[in-house]
Amino acid sequence: MKPPRQFFSPLATGAPAPLRDLPIAIERMIHFVPPHLEKVRAKVPEMAAQVDVILANLEDAIPADAKDAARAGAVEVGKMDLKGAGFWVRINALNAPWHLDDVTTLVAGLGDKLDVLMVPKVEGAWDIHYMDQFLALLEAKHGVMKPVLLHAILETAQGVANVEAIAGASPRMQGISLGPADLAASRKMKTTRVGGGHPGYRVIADPGEGARISVQQDLWHYTLAKMVDACAMHGIKPFYGPFGDIADAEGCEQQFRNAYLMGCVGAWSLHPSQIAIAKKVFTPDVDDVKFALRILEAMPDGSGVAMLDGKMQDDATWKQAKVIVDLARQIAAKEPEMKAAYGL
Ligand code: GLV
Ligand code: MG
Repeated sequence: MKPPRQFFSPLATGAPAPLRDLPIAIERMIHFVPPHLEKVRAKVPEMAAQVDVILANLEDAIPADAKDAARAGAVEVGKMDLKGAGFWVRINALNAPWHLDDVTTLVAGLGDKLDVLMVPKVEGAWDIHYMDQFLALLEAKHGVMKPVLLHAILETAQGVANVEAIAGASPRMQGISLGPADLAASRKMKTTRVGGGHPGYRVIADPGEGARISVQQDLWHYTLAKMVDACAMHGIKPFYGPFGDIADAEGCEQQFRNAYLMGCVGAWSLHPSQIAIAKKVFTPDVDDVKFALRILEAMPDGSGVAMLDGKMQDDATWKQAKVIVDLARQIAAKEPEMKAAYGL
């Protein structure tokens, strides 16, 4: 384990100092774009105005013969006016033939315009240590002033086993997303879905009179909970990943909502129709914010006990209310209509 002081020293001469705190950013939807397609690139500025983060995808779903074009397209997209949206790139995995060119080209071509690199199939802290050192060298070489942050996808059984170490591996760590498709394959789960539930995964009532009640369960509950705790422990952000059944808006909303309630701050949008779903789910509900504000008002110094609508409030509910109000304030600072709706 590195001594604490070294943790915040630059890893290369001339590289920027690692950040002590993450920049404040609303990241409710990470909108995936395939950057090798000229038609898609042309629509990015318009799209950027509707989303919190634009992500140029270089990894899975980009054909092998389009990887170079996608990388060049990502540099082009990163230079556009993204109307305040964050700019992330999902690079190819550490063992892929395109990985080296992805990282070197993006840092050289974009420098400070690159907010976050999403790293697929992270297995353990060693993968983050490698990225950390490599990025420091590239930042020093290209005079980058703002450290490139790292976001790991949790999509292998080994990664899940090591998630706490991954979350705490470097001050560059910005967050972690669940990658349910690759994770299902890695675990040998018997599903071909990308996220969401499965009708066969359920609990059933005991035998008795009449039909036995049976309810579908959430296949991702354990992993998501483990990931949220690891992220919270290390002060980084947890995200739900992709929901692949684009036609099932209701299923997508429910899966995102479970993640939101459990502590996640955002999810991926793979299709424009999922942008509004993520925005709705990861923006605190107006009534919840108003009730949370009443809790804070009832206990101005955060201590003691109060009753509101028959519900007991104490230090712990004050802290819960503060989580919701802090998030609402961040969103209100960006969106005047939400500021008005929350009455902030
Ligand atoms: C995402 O990359 C996934 O594998 O689900
Ligand atoms: Mg994947």
